[in-house]
This record gives sequence, C-alpha cells and structure tokens, in this order.
Amino acid sequence: MQTQKYRALSLLLIFLGPILLVVDQAAMESQALYELEKEPAYWDSQARATLDAALKLHPRKYQAKNIILFLGDGMGVSTVSAARILRGQMEGRSGEETVLAMDTFPFVALSKTYSVDKQVADSASTATAYHCGVKANAKTVGLSANAVAYECNTTFGNEVYSVLRRAKVQGKSVGIVTTTRVQHASPAAAYAHSVSRSWYSDADLPPSAHQQGCVDISTQLVTNVDIDVILGGGRMYMTPQGTPDPEYPSSNSRKGDRKDKKNLIDVWLNSKPNKKSHYVWHRKDFDEINVKTTDRLMGLFEPKDMRFEVFRNRTRDPSIVEMTEKAIQILNKNPKGYFLFVEDEGRIDHGHHDGIAKLALTEAVMFDRAIQRAAELTRESDTLTVVTADHSHVFTFGGNTPRGNPIFGLAPKNAEDKMPFTSILYANGPGYVHINGTRENITMVDYYDEEYMQQAAVPLDAETHGGEDVAIYAKGPMAHLFHGVKEQNYVAHVMAYAACLKPYTSCPPQPHNHASPGCVNTPSSFLFGLLVILWLFR
Ligand SMILES: *[C@@H]1O[C@H](CO)[C@@H](O)[C@H](O)[C@H]1NC(C)=O
Ligand SMILES: *[C@@H]1O[C@H](CO)[C@@H](O)[C@H](O)[C@H]1NC(C)=O
Ligand SMILES: *[C@@H]1O[C@H](CO)[C@@H](O)[C@H](O)[C@H]1NC(C)=O
Ligand SMILES: *[C@@H]1O[C@H](CO)[C@@H](O)[C@H](O)[C@H]1NC(C)=O
Ligand SMILES: [Zn+2]
Repeated sequence: MQTQKYRALSLLLIFLGPILLVVDQAAMESQALYELEKEPAYWDSQARATLDAALKLHPRKYQAKNIILFLGDGMGVSTVSAARILRGQMEGRSGEETVLAMDTFPFVALSKTYSVDKQVADSASTATAYHCGVKANAKTVGLSANAVAYECNTTFGNEVYSVLRRAKVQGKSVGIVTTTRVQHASPAAAYAHSVSRSWYSDADLPPSAHQQGCVDISTQLVTNVDIDVILGGGRMYMTPQGTPDPEYPSSNSRKGDRKDKKNLIDVWLNSKPNKKSHYVWHRKDFDEINVKTTDRLMGLFEPKDMRFEVFRNRTRDPSIVEMTEKAIQILNKNPKGYFLFVEDEGRIDHGHHDGIAKLALTEAVMFDRAIQRAAELTRESDTLTVVTADHSHVFTFGGNTPRGNPIFGLAPKNAEDKMPFTSILYANGPGYVHINGTRENITMVDYYDEEYMQQAAVPLDAETHGGEDVAIYAKGPMAHLFHGVKEQNYVAHVMAYAACLKPYTSCPPQPHNHASPGCVNTPSSFLFGLLVILWLFR
C-alpha cells in the first residue's frame, strides 16, 4: 500500500519535471526518499529530466564580458564529494543526493596539476599555471620555470602575466577575494612576480635578494596592477614595523612588520586620487560600504590569514559569501566588465594540512555558498564562471558506510585490530596516533569535534597535497572549451580567449544585442550567420 503511494508519486514526478523534483527532494524526509528510490520510475524520471536538460544545452559561442575564477585551494574531488554530503546533512537530509552550486555547472574537465619540477605540486606553481597560463616551479609565483626558487637574480626577464592583469590593461575592473592573507600564493600569482611565495613583506627578504632588486609581494600588490577590490587577511605585511594591530593592539606577533616603514594601505588609497577608495578592517565598516558610491575597496580583516569559518567571529569578520557579494557589486559597475578571483580555501587547504577534516569541509561548504551567491548576482549570458582547485589532498572517505552515514562518523564494522575507524581518513599527517604500538582506540573519542584529527597511516607534522587530477567546472560564454583532460595552465588560456584578452586577438564574436538567457536556445545557424556577418565586416 505504501509502495503504491510512492509509485503514484513517482509517476506524478515524471510529468512535473525536474524543478519540482529538486524542491520535493529537499523537503522530503530521508525515509520517504529511500522508499521512493526503490522505484525504477523515480530513477527513470530523474535521468530523463537530466537527459532533456543535456539535449537542450547549447554552448555559448560568444565573448564573455565578465570572468569569475573560483579557486578551491586543495579542493580535490574527494573533498567536493564529502562537502556535498556535509551540506546535505547540515540541512537535515541523508546528504549524498545533495546538489552543490558547482554541481549544476554544465561543463566539466579534469586538470593535470603537476608543475615543471614536482609531480605533486604546491599552490604557488599551480597559481602561476591557472592565472598566467604557464607551468612553473614550486615556491615561485608569476614567473616561468626559468626562474629558480629563492634565487632573486633569476626573477628578471622571466615574468609571466596573469589574466587579471591583462583584463585591467583592456579596461576591465579587477578584484581578488580570499580567506587567507591577500599575499598568499594563490592570489599573489595574479599580480606579483616572486621567486619566493613567502616574501610577504620586505622583512621576509634575505639581504642578498634586496641587493639584487627583488621586491616583496605586498609592495607588488599595490604597485604592479591597480586592483580595484582587495579583500582578505594580511594587514601586518602592509604597515611599518611596530604598528599595533587595530584588532589585537596588545599582541606583539601581529604588529606591522615593514622595515621600509611604508604604509602600503595608504599607498593603495592614494594611488587613484580621482576614484572613491575605501579601506576597512572590520565588519561594521565593511557592511556600511555603499557599493554605488565606492570605486575601489580594500578590506584586510586579520593580521595574517582569516579565521576558519567554524571559528569566525561573525560580528567582526565578513564571510567569503559576503566578500564575494560586495566585490561583484562594486566591480560590475564597469560597462567593460570585470575579472574577479575568489579563493576560499586557502582554508580548505589549511584544514587538510592540519589533518582536521571538519575545518576543511566546512570551508568547502561556505565556498559553494559563495559560488551560489555569485550565480544569483550574475548572468550566465555574459559571465564565464570557472570553479577549480590548484591541487588535491591525501584525503579520502570510505569503509562501506551505509546511506546517510554521518560524514564524520564511523564505518559500520571494526577493523582487523577490533577497533572502530572513521570513514574519513588521511594517508599521512598529524592524525597518526599510535599508543603502545597500536592504533588509537577512538571508541571514547569525540570524532565529531571541530578539532578532531582523523587518523593517518603515516606520521607527518602536516598532511600533504595529493597528486591526482582536480575538476574544472564552468558555465557561461565559451565554458564548453572546458572538457576532457587538460593541463592546468589551459585554464588561463580559455579565460583570456573567452574575454578576448592578450595574447588572443582572433576572438569569439560579441554577443548579439539582446543577450539574455534566451541565448541558450539560439539555433547554431543563427550564430553561424552572425559569425559570417562579423567576418564580412571585420
Ligand atoms: C645568481 O645568484 C646566485 C647566488 O646568489 C649565483 O650563484 C648565480 O651565479 C647568480 N646567477 C646569475 C645569472 O647572476
Ligand atoms: C567578536 O568580536 C566582538 C567585537 O570585536 C567582540 O566583542 C567579541 O568578544 C568577539 N567574540 C568572540 C567569541 O571572540
Ligand atoms: C576500545 O575501547 C572501548 C571503550 O573503552 C572498549 O570497550 C574496547 O574493548 C576497546 N577495544 C580494544 C580493541 O581495545
Ligand atoms: C602502555 O603500556 C604501558 C606498559 O605496558 C602501560 O603502563 C600503559 O598504561 C599503556 N598505555 C596505554 C594508553 O594503554
Ligand atoms: Zn597546501
């Protein structure tokens, strides 16, 4: 009788289509969903809706006005899958069937993340690849592999230039948003050229590097390119040595550390006297920023990296979602469009390095919310949105867990050593805890704790990156160029081509005047006709 009810419901769903299906799923009790899933009609109708959508999908073969690159530092595919389950479970569902914002992107490719010198790469060389279009050496940012890490004199002549910089040259507005320090390797490759990713301020450069003319990353942040929106952490590298931090005035380790006594926040504020520029360092001022009257915004909310989302002080620091929203609202006033780089996850990466999955996965869920918010504030018809990672981590989940198993929970059976184990495990890292020669018995341990370190097979003080491919998710104009298995530096080339930035001069056509979501269904013959007209009048 129950079964018949669900069968009737399944049949109904076939006719009501995919939208209702998604809404229904979200509202449905997990138990009811399991019942429904027993019916072939449920799976058939769901797949048919997906097939219909796939048949209606047309590549948008015209120029992108705006580009947003979301970079999940360390966000490997296993992290995305676990974050998806976590989000579903946070919303009271079983979890696995959840659809992340990035899951809805129509085009997906795999990105090979090795660098010129490393099989398993770091965030600096990979940032050079996806920002500048060139694979490079570990530890270096914005330089080709002719540059040698830490050797200042190999900097000059080996600079490679980011899509952000090329977008600025062609009149677009540009921004960076990150939950780490804004001088961190991932954003740094967008504006700096440095043989060391850790030369945050001039105090970090060895004397020989100074003598040879190398410049710290913070100085390059405010002098290389005029970046309209800069949001993240990293205050202490911007102010003269000894300057008390406004938020932690009694802390010695968070004081300004610039030996050249420059205040780079003022340098940035004063560099464009004709524009309305604002600097903020806490949430209240950030919230009061009027995006309509603000041309440029710098927000530095912590002396170094911003806090993990689970520890964020909500009255003091904005979230990645709020920062992304404000950045888009300021940048999109430029009629020529914008390039925005959003990295949430410097903290995904850091959570994994600490071997604490809850920190990493909570960050990944917030990152997806930022992607969702950006989707609400932009149009797929004029904005190419790309979501990818720089590299993966040795993070995994498994162990024959049943449907709906809490993502931080135990696998159903004990291991060979007669002790339980969590589904999430790391191949290496600080979670290696052996007591008297055996694995720790976690029966009485709170493995749901925010700081619980999942067990690791090999002891290391920091868990390491993983070497497998990461995903690239894309939507918007020219997003279809992301397909198949690609080298990571290809990301920069697609973005540059889509927005007609250097070195590309033979570009996709301009969208027709009434560019709207209706373009999806534009027959390809129309686009062909448009191409012919453009060719005739070029
Ligand atoms: C660069 O500096 C290193 C040591 O500081 C030196 O060994 C090397 O020869 C220099 N290279 C060039 C091209 O000047
Ligand atoms: C959060 O920040 C506010 C304002 O600075 C402060 O009063 C409050 O104590 C902070 N809360 C926590 C939990 O640190
Ligand atoms: C693990 O700990 C639990 C609870 O303290 C205990 O009942 C169990 O016997 C222990 N297992 C082993 C293999 O030591
Ligand atoms: C480890 O072994 C020693 C010696 O057998 C014992 O005294 C100690 O209690 C053991 N520690 C744990 C945590 O089981
Ligand atoms: Zn890392």
